[in-house]
Amino acid sequence: METKKRKIGIIGVGNVGTAAATAILHNNIADELLLIDCDEKRAEGEAMDYLDSIEFNTSRTYVKTANLEEAASCDILLVSVADPSTIPSSSRLELLQESATIIQDVVPNLRKLGFAGIYVVATNPCDIITYLTWTLSGLPRNQVVGTGTALDSARFRRLISQEIKNINPETIQGYTLGEHGDSQFGVWSHVTIGGQPLDVFEKETGIKLDRHAIVEKTRRLGWDIHIRKGCTQFGIGNVLAYFAKSILEDAKSVTPASCILDGEYGFDDLSIGVPAVIGRCGVERILSLQLTDKENSEFVASSQVIKNYISELKV
Ligand code: LAC
Repeated sequence: METKKRKIGIIGVGNVGTAAATAILHNNIADELLLIDCDEKRAEGEAMDYLDSIEFNTSRTYVKTANLEEAASCDILLVSVADPSTIPSSSRLELLQESATIIQDVVPNLRKLGFAGIYVVATNPCDIITYLTWTLSGLPRNQVVGTGTALDSARFRRLISQEIKNINPETIQGYTLGEHGDSQFGVWSHVTIGGQPLDVFEKETGIKLDRHAIVEKTRRLGWDIHIRKGCTQFGIGNVLAYFAKSILEDAKSVTPASCILDGEYGFDDLSIGVPAVIGRCGVERILSLQLTDKENSEFVASSQVIKNYISELKV
């Protein structure tokens, strides 16, 4: 009996898309991986190159190029489209019009073709593009999710780890929430080290974290990489693979993600980074955290940045 194939499509096979493909192949997340790009020749070259690597991998993922018609039959579509001619100089928000134009072309076509799976969006500015994808997709809100502050939160935990004698970042709980951009904020009231609240940990060890500096560095890290190599790809490529794995394995992982809100945290009609349970149905639940007054006002300010840009979208 043939078992159902796990089928993932990557729309946009540039720096981020190829990094996601590599992570998917190395972690055996899909049976079929479809590469979709307007530069068909480039996508074909990537697929041929990946096939060469299969013999040396543990996975037997079959990689090929595809058109939108075939993409519409995927379980998951990872969205990493980018206009290669637009290079932001100081903010991901500068990418909005070019990214939106591509999404406005691709997503309505996939809707007509009957795509009924889950979109995972990494294209920047991530929160606004996630929202736009949802509005054009015709899908319920749980089926569209953005990578949001998942990567920022990993950076945040790593920076905390470095200040506390390299305690394994995986054993640190901590998020940045809000926009995947400059207005994100650190949720310090919920940082725990192996379950111990940060305040208690600091008292016990005598280590005092410079919280402001850690959040600033977290916000800057994407840019610090961008300045040096012209893009970021491996971090975000692995985040995309992690979301795909959580969905296909129904892992119900709790991670910050850009989710379409409908009243949670007092917001609606936008997508923004919140902690969410990611499983077979996509966003299965949004976790509400009790935030401090300071965190709440940072959240409101961040939501306002996203709302302002959403209102500028030419839909
Ligand atoms: C970054 C990109 C994905 O932060 O925005 O690396």
